[in-house]
This record gives sequence, structure tokens and C-alpha cells, in this order.
Amino acid sequence: MMAKFIFELNFFACFILFVKCNTELLNEEWINNEESHKILHRSRRSLEEQFFEEQNKTYTCDTSILPQPTAEYPVVLFEGINYNNCSANGKHRRLRTQVFEKWSENLSGPNRARKHKWNSMLMLPGANLTFRACCPSGNNYLSTVDNWNNTANLHYSVLTQDDLKGPTGIWYERWLHWVMSFYIRVDDPVDTTSLPSTCGDNGACYYGQCGLTGKCECADGYSGVDCGTAPTNDSYPTEKKPLVLFKDVDYTGTYLPVNPDDFKRFAYNQRSAREMEYKSMRVLHNRTMMFARNIIYTQKFTPGDDIPDMAEFMIANPNVADGIWYNYDPHYEVDFHVKVEMSGACFNCSETNGVCYTGSCLCKTGFTGDYCDDPV
Ligand SMILES: *[C@@H]1O[C@H](CO)[C@@H](O)[C@H](O)[C@H]1NC(C)=O
Ligand SMILES: *[C@@H]1O[C@H](CO)[C@@H](O)[C@H](O)[C@H]1NC(C)=O
Ligand SMILES: *[C@@H]1O[C@H](CO)[C@@H](O)[C@H](O)[C@H]1NC(C)=O
Ligand SMILES: *[C@@H]1O[C@H](CO)[C@@H](O)[C@H](O)[C@H]1NC(C)=O
Ligand SMILES: *[C@@H]1O[C@H](CO)[C@@H](O)[C@H](O)[C@H]1NC(C)=O
Ligand SMILES: *[C@@H]1O[C@H](CO)[C@@H](O)[C@H](O)[C@H]1NC(C)=O
Ligand SMILES: *[C@@H]1O[C@H](CO)[C@@H](O)[C@H](O)[C@H]1NC(C)=O
Ligand SMILES: *[C@@H]1O[C@H](CO)[C@@H](O)[C@H](O)[C@H]1NC(C)=O
Repeated sequence: MMAKFIFELNFFACFILFVKCNTELLNEEWINNEESHKILHRSRRSLEEQFFEEQNKTYTCDTSILPQPTAEYPVVLFEGINYNNCSANGKHRRLRTQVFEKWSENLSGPNRARKHKWNSMLMLPGANLTFRACCPSGNNYLSTVDNWNNTANLHYSVLTQDDLKGPTGIWYERWLHWVMSFYIRVDDPVDTTSLPSTCGDNGACYYGQCGLTGKCECADGYSGVDCGTAPTNDSYPTEKKPLVLFKDVDYTGTYLPVNPDDFKRFAYNQRSAREMEYKSMRVLHNRTMMFARNIIYTQKFTPGDDIPDMAEFMIANPNVADGIWYNYDPHYEVDFHVKVEMSGACFNCSETNGVCYTGSCLCKTGFTGDYCDDPV
């Protein structure tokens, strides 16, 4: 196992000497050294308590009943530790390669603690992960760990991973008083040799992919052994409406299904403030997406993916955000737009007799033709 790391020496000096180096980074309580020591002591103790408390909850379970990693989504994150207490109930999120996802952040106030959004994780064996502590203070600590494994308690594992927790990693054991969030990314490429080559009843997953345990892992909204049952609810994307925008985060609130190639405004700056018209979105699997500033300056995001919190996604992924000035000063009065491109081969594909998950029209049993319209 090899770890790559980046850290800034000047920060190291700040921390060791307990001096206030950067007003943006430090909590006001760090102003004098004596107080700093007390706070550090307090934070260590509470972290330690958290550590034991969470470790005590770790136990073994049958993970085969849970949503499994696939080639396209090599990591599945679970809301609870122990993969949601070893049950498929509870929130999970599938993670693509090359996209940073926030899994934890610090909490201020009297009960200083970390707030973990995702607590455990199943993954394709042998994938490399990049951990990051950053944003938006300007700090950016990255550490790649090769060959990470299934993790029943992410906080515990990061806290006890020597290369990760300390100064050669992302300082994870220290961050409690800074504005700091923790991200995770699956690096490209991933080794898919452990995946079965066929799945489902007749060896095909229509709107999903083969998971590690040999069952089809369906795209959100799709169901059935072969993921061939389409959602009936138009809050899920389809070939005709490959983008669905939601007023609120986590795909809640009123929603707008959008045609292919149709730019929609999701945010804008006005009177030096950011206005969000839509805060989350679902995208048809693997479609090419485009973000834009004033519709003119575009930034491709390929392949597109569901985004449960667009503001958070932009902070976590400056490679997408910077091209459209998203995280820049809101006194620039600009509009932010998003679209999903038309997939020519898919647009006319029958929605009942065919599926276009992989980008070409695949007919279900009993149908044929370019768009699967003809009975065999
Ligand atoms: C369980 O938690 C207690 C503190 O609440 C701690 O003393 C003990 O060592 C923990 N056990 C394990 C296995 O971590
Ligand atoms: C879920 O957690 C509770 C309490 O921690 C525990 O008693 C129970 O056995 C767990 N359920 C499973 C399926 O392990
Ligand atoms: C992290 O800590 C800073 C400083 O106390 C605070 O301003 C910020 O709101 C905290 N972050 C979260 C998510 O609570
Ligand atoms: C993952 O498991 C393998 C095999 O047990 C081990 O060699 C490797 O060090 C583990 N990776 C991490 C990051 O702990
Ligand atoms: C993980 O990174 C190491 C080098 O750091 C590389 O040898 C290995 O191939 C990578 N794993 C995958 C699955 O790409
Ligand atoms: C689809 O589901 C959402 C909640 O997930 C609900 O608010 C909406 O009314 C449903 N739409 C239709 C057409 O049933
Ligand atoms: C879909 O079919 C219509 C009618 O046959 C045709 O005019 C249109 O060009 C087709 N669209 C695509 C993207 O193939
Ligand atoms: C998704 O798109 C990528 C190219 O962007 C392609 O390599 C991959 O095969 C596609 N996956 C599926 C399941 O269609």
C-alpha cells in the first residue's frame, strides 16, 4: 500500500505553534494560546469518545443483500455505520469514479463533533480512493490510498489509518475547529475482474449493471430482476426527458422534467447574492451533460450523474464549477444553466419494448428493429 500526499508546510508551522496564521481558517476562540490548548484538549477527548462509541457498534454482517458495487459505480456509500446496520433499509448513494462526494464535515457550537453524512461503504476490491479535506476556506489536503476495502465505519477507518489521519494525509484527527469538509473520490480506472460477466434471469441487466454478487443493480426508479421495469413516476429521467430538476436538495420539492438539449437555468446571481432555482437533479444514466454560464460559456461533465445537492457538488468539484464561475464572487451578475444532450440512438427507442441504458437501443425479448418497435 502506498500513499501519496500533499500538505503545506506553513500550515504545519501554524498548528504546532498554535498561532493564528490565517483569520479565515481559524475559529475566533484560537486567539490566545492558552485557550487554544484547552480547546485542543477538549476536542481530542470528544473525538476519542466518539471513536470508542462508534467502534463498539462495529459488527459483522451479511453484505450480499445490500446494494452492490458495479463497474460504473465502484463504491456504494451508506448513511449508517455497518452498512445501515446490515440492512438495505436506509439511505445509500452510488459513487462514480472521478467525482468528489462529501462524506463528513465539522460541527461548530458547544457539542463540537463531526457530522458524518455517509458512514460505511462497499466497494469493488482493489480500487484506489482519494480522501480530501478542504473547501471552501482555501485549504486543500489530498491523500490517495491504494487498495482500500469495504469499510463498516468510515470515520473509524480514516481516524486509525496512519497514512491518512495525520500530517502525511489529510490531518483528519485534527480538524474540528476549522470550516472543513471531508470528501472521497474513487480514482480511475477500477479493476473490474472481480465482477461477474452476466447477471439477471437471461444474462442481461436492462436498466442497470451487474453487481459483485451477480444480481442486477438497477438505476434509481427502475426495478425487476433484470431492471427492465421502468419507473411510472415522471420524477425519474427517461429518454424523452433525460433531466429532472428539483426545487430542493435530495430530489425533493416540485420538479421539472426537461427535454434533451434544452438548457435550463438552475441558479443566478442578483444583487450580490446567489439565488437557487433548482437544488438537485437526476440525469439519465451515462448521458453527456453540460453546465453553462449565461448559456455561452460551457463546461462538459461526462458522463452526467444525479446530483443530490448542486451547490455542494460545485464546491467539491472545482473542475466543473470553475469553468462557469460558479464559486466566484456572486456580485458578477451571471446565470447558471444545465442541459443533458440528446442521444440520437436512444431518442426513438421504444420505452416499453426496448431500453437504452448503454446508449444504443436494446430490445426486450419478443421485439426487434432499430427502435424495438417490431414484434419478432
Ligand atoms: C467500548 O466503549 C468503551 C467506552 O464507552 C471503551 O472503554 C471500550 O474500550 C470500547 N470497546 C471497544 C472494543 O472499543
Ligand atoms: C442493529 O442495531 C441494533 C442496535 O445497535 C442491534 O441490536 C441489532 O442487532 C442490529 N441489527 C442487525 C440486523 O444487526
Ligand atoms: C465548522 O466549524 C466552523 C468554525 O467553528 C463553523 O463556522 C462551521 O459552520 C462548521 N461547519 C459546520 C458544517 O458546522
Ligand atoms: C485491504 O485488504 C487487503 C487484503 O486484506 C490488505 O492487504 C490491504 O492493506 C487493505 N487495504 C487497506 C487500505 O487497508
Ligand atoms: C492503484 O494505484 C496503483 C499505483 O499507485 C496502481 O499500481 C494500481 O494499478 C491502481 N489500481 C487500479 C485498480 O488502477
Ligand atoms: C412522483 O413522486 C413524487 C415523490 O417522489 C411525488 O411528489 C409526485 O407527485 C409523483 N408524481 C406522479 C406523477 O405521480
Ligand atoms: C425520431 O423519429 C422521428 C420520426 O420518425 C424522426 O423525425 C426523428 O428524426 C427521429 N429522431 C432521432 C433523434 O432519431
Ligand atoms: C458510459 O459512458 C462511458 C463513456 O463516457 C463508456 O465508456 C461506458 O461504457 C458507458 N457505460 C455504459 C454502461 O454504457
